[in-house]
Amino acid sequence: MSENRSVITLAHLTREKIEYLLKMAAQFEQHPNRRILEGKVVATLFFEPSTRTRLSFETAANRLGARVIGFADPKITSGTKGESLKDTIKMVSNYADVIVMRHYLEGAARYASEVTNVPIINAGDGSNQHPSQTMLDMYSIYKTQGMLDNLNIHLVGDLKYGRTVHSLLMAMRHFNPTFHFIAPKELKMPEEYKIYCRQNGIRFTEGTDFNEDTISGADILYMTRVQKERFTDLMEYERVKDTYILSSDMLSKARPNMKILHPLPRINEITADVDDNPHAYYFQQAQNGLYAREALISDVLGLTLDDITNDKTII
Ligand code: CP
Repeated sequence: MSENRSVITLAHLTREKIEYLLKMAAQFEQHPNRRILEGKVVATLFFEPSTRTRLSFETAANRLGARVIGFADPKITSGTKGESLKDTIKMVSNYADVIVMRHYLEGAARYASEVTNVPIINAGDGSNQHPSQTMLDMYSIYKTQGMLDNLNIHLVGDLKYGRTVHSLLMAMRHFNPTFHFIAPKELKMPEEYKIYCRQNGIRFTEGTDFNEDTISGADILYMTRVQKERFTDLMEYERVKDTYILSSDMLSKARPNMKILHPLPRINEITADVDDNPHAYYFQQAQNGLYAREALISDVLGLTLDDITNDKTII
């Protein structure tokens, strides 16, 4: 987090800080409804479509007693008249105590954090980072595995444009993971993230096979959508979009503890018959987003774990 408590990436967080935020999320899971943010205003500025991230941030703010302003569609803003992102952020900073922003440009959240003293929470910037998703992913991993250390994490699908996998591998560096990157060659993990892994002692393998045997080694099977909106050539999207489709019959050799995560939305990459399989966890994962985002908003607004633990405003 930068000087003004913005959350642009989790790459700089210590292990202790990540564990602290997960403890906060656990407190919010026990008691999601409180009045601890009464009087605060949370702005949600979504320059790109979203279902889960925007609605769970807004639910988090509402459940904690804050009020919400913002937009889900930039077409209804003065951006269409030519107002710059800088001016938009400076204006909203006059109204809100924290700004949650999703933008299609990589680096937009960092830029926003540099033009205001109001904390910015990056709700996804292009194919770069999605830190609040990573908090809920780590919370989901912790809940299902009982720990974050020494896990085999298989990342499957669009590893080139998928911002959730980029954020996750950076934040997991403290926990001695082994990543398995499974992607078609067109959607391989970008070199910069492999360099990051090498520099931070994160083990990884790369491959294209996706079958019962590759799945058998996973503690976490993290499926991803092919990010159609990032392709400049839609013919290429059509060629790769259905490369990996997980179905229930592929799970016969899965470890008992293995859980399937997916940031959602899903298109074809997980068939509906997986939804009732005990390994499926993606809908609970999305639910965990509420608690993780309650923790993030509270933290950037200066509340501590003690404040949450001793909170007397529980409803
Ligand atoms: N996982 C995620 O970011 O979903 P939305 O695009 O619906 O917010």
